[in-house]
Amino acid sequence: MKKTLAILPGDGIGPETIKAATEILRVIETRFGHSFELKNWPIGANSLRSGQPALPAETLSACLSADAVLLGAVGDPDFDTLPRAKRPEAGLLELRQALGTYANLRPARVWPGLEHSSSLKTDRLAGTDLLIVRELTGGLYFGQPRGIAQDHTSAINTLCYSRNEIERIAKVGFEAAQRRQRRLTSVDKANVLETSELWRSVVIELSASYPDVELEHMYIDACAMSLVLEPSRFDVIVTENLFGDILSDEAGAIVGSLGLLPSASLGNGTGLFEPVHGSAPTIAGKDIANPIGTITSTAMLLRHGLGAEEEALAIERAVEQTLADGFRTVDLAHGDTTSVSCSKMTTAITERLANCDI
Ligand code: IPM
Ligand code: MN
Repeated sequence: MKKTLAILPGDGIGPETIKAATEILRVIETRFGHSFELKNWPIGANSLRSGQPALPAETLSACLSADAVLLGAVGDPDFDTLPRAKRPEAGLLELRQALGTYANLRPARVWPGLEHSSSLKTDRLAGTDLLIVRELTGGLYFGQPRGIAQDHTSAINTLCYSRNEIERIAKVGFEAAQRRQRRLTSVDKANVLETSELWRSVVIELSASYPDVELEHMYIDACAMSLVLEPSRFDVIVTENLFGDILSDEAGAIVGSLGLLPSASLGNGTGLFEPVHGSAPTIAGKDIANPIGTITSTAMLLRHGLGAEEEALAIERAVEQTLADGFRTVDLAHGDTTSVSCSKMTTAITERLANCDI
């Protein structure tokens, strides 16, 4: 197949992990006889530095017309004092909304051999393999009104969810559960918030259409605790934007490192694929970042964005073999394990990807 991908390296470690992902895509081209047109576009702080907005119009139109979008990371502390709407992150939020990618899939599992990279006891960790379905274009992130009073004595954000927004994300949750272990945990704060009360009742109504999925409800605070106590009890978690943001960082720590987690953001048009981690400015440019989150996001791009399941599996298999062979970036290393650089890890994965069985 011939496809056009919009590549948005972004800030901090973004360009390093995206370089790793493009090497992976080149191996996929050779091995499977595909041809990918990869074109880089600015977003975030790098765009602001060149005098453009955080999401330039050309970047957005390239994304809208691409077959899929691959993004590194966005964010830079140099811009933390700017008004919120002018910061690097605003570019990413605008992109998610413009693409209409309301469903953010964030899988987290313990890769074989990585049990000791987690701070959880191995027996608690065993069997952990979950999927967080995070609502991505609504909730507190986008609700109006918002702002800080001119005299800085108060500030406001608005949490608002429509029935339609809840229904469409809950459907994604139920359908994902049907393809997995058929267990869905809907996470809310229905003992306090009206949005959560509506969320829960819509999920319950919808559950009638999915009798094969076992549904449970959990409050966000209890879920945060349960995730560290017994992560393997979860299959699919569906939740609102902010709760999903928080739980996914927690899931990253549980499986060994946030640097491992990929994501797919899907809607009715072009999909956006990006690792769950941020721009990690303190380690940028040192060639020590973990490229696996971006590499497995590339696998999700192939699977969900281009319908290339075998290619996605090949990447996941190559990552699994590389980890089984003992390669560890510094975030995964523990005790006296030696660590490899981002580029060494990438080479180890590409070598295996060229030859692994699927
Ligand atoms: C994430 C990030 C973003 C978010 C930031 C960078 C805006 O933390 O993708 O999880 O909060 O959604
Ligand atoms: Mn986050």
